[in-house]
Amino acid sequence: MNPAFKSRLLQAANTFGTPLYAYDWQTIQQQLERLRTAFGEARLFYAMKANPSLGILKRLSALGVGFEAVSGGELERAVIAGATGNEIVLNGPGKLNADYQRAREIGAYLILDNKLEGTRAASHAFGTQVLIRVNPGLTVSTHDHLATGNASSKFGVALHEVPEAVSNAERAGLEVIGLQMHIGSSITDPHDYTDALECMAALANQIGSRRVFDMGGGFGLDFDLAPLAELAWDAARAFGASELWVEPGRWLVAESGVLLTTVLERKSTARSFAVVDAGMTELIRPMMYGATHPVESLSADARDNAPRETVTLDIAGPACESGDILAKDATLPDPQAGDVLAIGVAGAYGSSMSSHYLTRPRPAEVLLDGETWVPLRRRETLAELLLAETDL
Ligand SMILES: Cc1ncc(COP(=O)(O)O)c(C=O)c1O
Repeated sequence: MNPAFKSRLLQAANTFGTPLYAYDWQTIQQQLERLRTAFGEARLFYAMKANPSLGILKRLSALGVGFEAVSGGELERAVIAGATGNEIVLNGPGKLNADYQRAREIGAYLILDNKLEGTRAASHAFGTQVLIRVNPGLTVSTHDHLATGNASSKFGVALHEVPEAVSNAERAGLEVIGLQMHIGSSITDPHDYTDALECMAALANQIGSRRVFDMGGGFGLDFDLAPLAELAWDAARAFGASELWVEPGRWLVAESGVLLTTVLERKSTARSFAVVDAGMTELIRPMMYGATHPVESLSADARDNAPRETVTLDIAGPACESGDILAKDATLPDPQAGDVLAIGVAGAYGSSMSSHYLTRPRPAEVLLDGETWVPLRRRETLAELLLAETDL
């Protein structure tokens, strides 16, 4: 974690309260630079599902980053953030007719997820430039729920059906400018990309030259991107493509963010717990994907004269769900009620996957930009949360 950012977190917790998502703009910019250094002239379409905060999207848009949207709502976010049509791709299975219409209106690209989708897409977005999402049918090194490039996942078009998908889309009146792949998220083995890119390149014989090759996102946080970028450019060149597109989500924002939470109480059953004021409703990844997040105490030094004993315990959320554990076997200075903890690497798929489960209003979000905490989103109120209910 950026030390300058870390040193300001207690102040943020005191000013804005907890639970709180806090992000560091400097870390996002550094990650962006690393992506650009590795991928050279490639076009970046940030997968906004990772963190769709408008304050972050606007800043990225100002730096020339495009967006990958997977819903009508995300399409609108991209527009509000300042992106123009050719800076937006609309992806995902099960798009609505209204999504095609809106994509056409703003001039966004479409990524077709189904070999027959071209027919419906063309009837609402005739003439649009599209890519076909290919499922290379490989086993990939990630949690089952995050794997999208395996043969049984719901995503994309199987390798042998790609020519049919292309001709169907072209016959319907769409311009197929290239192919896209996205084999999954939090991929741990770079060889998964090597294999997938080889499968993709082999399709060039069947579908001929195309302007664009889109390699998707999903990079593990510790990946060395340079060799990966080289392979992706090779695959692009196999199609004679002049443009390589990349869709990073988590890699760009995960390490920029923490979820700040206050310890409410300690308790023990057969295990020891620190019960905190954030949980699965604010960070579902541990429960959903078995994801691990580092935990640091921000208060231990600040509140004490002498160092505390180090303990190992579970960080439990307040939900009435036994799976609501933010971190198992966290080792940290003995947490006391009132301490603020930072759950790390929470900049991606934290807030974006948060929920109102248990009638919990969503936390505030803040961004450290230079020396200033910029509020991105205020804490929701209970009244707002109940607003859409009609039979009162
Ligand atoms: C099509 C597509 N592209 C890119 C991404 C970004 O993945 P990640 O955040 O793992 O980089 C996703 C995430 O699910 C996706 O579905």
